[in-house]
Amino acid sequence: MTVKVYIARETSALSVDAEDIAQQLPALMPQAGPNIEIIRHGSRGMAWLEPLVEVDTEQGRVAYGPVTPEALPDLVAAEFYLGKPHALGHGLTEQLPYFAAQQRVTFRRCGLVTAGSIEDYCAHEGFAGLERALQMSPQQIIDEIRESGLRGRGGAGFPTGIKWQTVADTAAEQKYIACNADEGDSGTFSDRMLMEGDPLALIEGMAIAAHAVGADAGVIYLRSEYPLAAELLTEAIAAARATGWLGNAIQGSDFNFNIELRIGAGSYVCGEETAMLESLEGKRGQIRYKPPLPAIEGLWQKPTVINNVITLATVPAILTGGAAAYAERGLDRSRGTLPFQLAGNIKRGGLVEVPFGLTLRELIFDIGGGTASGRPLRAVQVGGPLGAYFPESLLDTALDYEAFTARGGTLGHGGVVVFDDTVDMARQARFAMEFCVVESCGKCTPCRIGSVRGVELLDRIIAERDSQRTEETGRNFELLADLCETMVNASLCAMGTMTPNPVRSAVKYFGEDFRRPVA
Ligand SMILES: Cc1cc2nc3c(=O)[nH]c(=O)nc-3n(C[C@H](O)[C@H](O)[C@H](O)COP(=O)(O)O)c2cc1C
Ligand code: SF4
Repeated sequence: MTVKVYIARETSALSVDAEDIAQQLPALMPQAGPNIEIIRHGSRGMAWLEPLVEVDTEQGRVAYGPVTPEALPDLVAAEFYLGKPHALGHGLTEQLPYFAAQQRVTFRRCGLVTAGSIEDYCAHEGFAGLERALQMSPQQIIDEIRESGLRGRGGAGFPTGIKWQTVADTAAEQKYIACNADEGDSGTFSDRMLMEGDPLALIEGMAIAAHAVGADAGVIYLRSEYPLAAELLTEAIAAARATGWLGNAIQGSDFNFNIELRIGAGSYVCGEETAMLESLEGKRGQIRYKPPLPAIEGLWQKPTVINNVITLATVPAILTGGAAAYAERGLDRSRGTLPFQLAGNIKRGGLVEVPFGLTLRELIFDIGGGTASGRPLRAVQVGGPLGAYFPESLLDTALDYEAFTARGGTLGHGGVVVFDDTVDMARQARFAMEFCVVESCGKCTPCRIGSVRGVELLDRIIAERDSQRTEETGRNFELLADLCETMVNASLCAMGTMTPNPVRSAVKYFGEDFRRPVA
């Protein structure tokens, strides 16, 4: 008898000893016990249970976690490998409320397949979307994506079908698909989890996009901080090539498509699409003026589809399940699902793929379990470092692009960072300005100089607060408001126009932190 044991080969699991556990377990098994086969899949998204050890049973996979190397002998003594009870046991993985609350579309294979295994991938509907796309005309594919309502998951939420249509309609001998895998937003990791858990889904999505717009070359711009994703993507690209899913005459058709993996230069702004193009061309990562749009003049001045990892990796599911099934989920103009990433001071941090329309409160409390510290929640930053800080009173906002925009926020890439009542929001506002100082590409004055002045102003406000002086406070707030207004109206890209969001929201909702000493 052989028992299958699953331990993720994924960065967050590896950061908490998953490798040691996978190495040590076989030697601890009793001689009279069953053989074990340790399978290294992607993550199930439950970072709070890592290292998670799952065991195949007749009822399904049983979960144990967080498992430490020290706990292994006890787990083995309790015969966990037969799915038996233990203090670290949680029952069937897919019945855990955290998991059962989700509707996994983009992440449907994550944790179930070995990255880069064509056999595993095909056994789980892999390449069915591309097979269908090869039977369709390019316009039919674009129509299908438009009907699905898919919007860009990188941050701006731009309709994917419209972007593809522009590239398809622009006549050129050479077109490109550029996948944005720079994932610089604080508290986000869905791109990484997808690339480490199901990289072939991204490859398939890029190939479908290429077929739709008439491109034969693709590039993945991957942040340098993701070495495991780089390794697994490289393996997956090679496996797809070796089996005729990439390269010339894909699956005997007349469609050619190749993908090159490029490693980023370690700058937040390089995730902005035009700076990414500059970086890909070997130049310093600075923003380009728009127009021309990258869809018309992108990489090497050729029409280029630029999409985020999650956008592209969702495309195969739309092609296999149909546009209508995808569009059925969601709220208003936010269709389908979004893989949210729960981070910061939260009890059950990890990845949660749910349809748009749930409220922020449901996401944080019902699924995430509230704060990890057990203290009252005070603020939530959704959408990365340029997202607004929401107070408790805005937690009933629906997870929907427009609902967030209407409240001065952004859903962005779906990062959710939670703070409890010990947070000093004036320092958080300063952090936002400082982030802009460090990451500004320097091309325009409101962002390059404005952010420096913003830090100085916030330093003065905090110094007055801490020394309980008030003579300059009013004037400093006036200047800060004026500075934010200038940055919003005069910056060249969203780095400068959005940095005021966290600052203004901190002042608006947490004004008391700016005016009195914090204990
Ligand atoms: C400062 C800045 C950083 C950005 N970083 C990223 C990033 O890391 N990944 C990403 O996909 N999009 C990022 N974006 C958004 C991209 O410019 C672009 O909208 C996106 O890649 C388009 O793909 P999508 O339509 O699939 O979302 C960033 C934008 C700005 C202004
Ligand atoms: S807003 Fe900032 S990041 Fe954007 S172009 Fe101007 S200086 Fe560069």
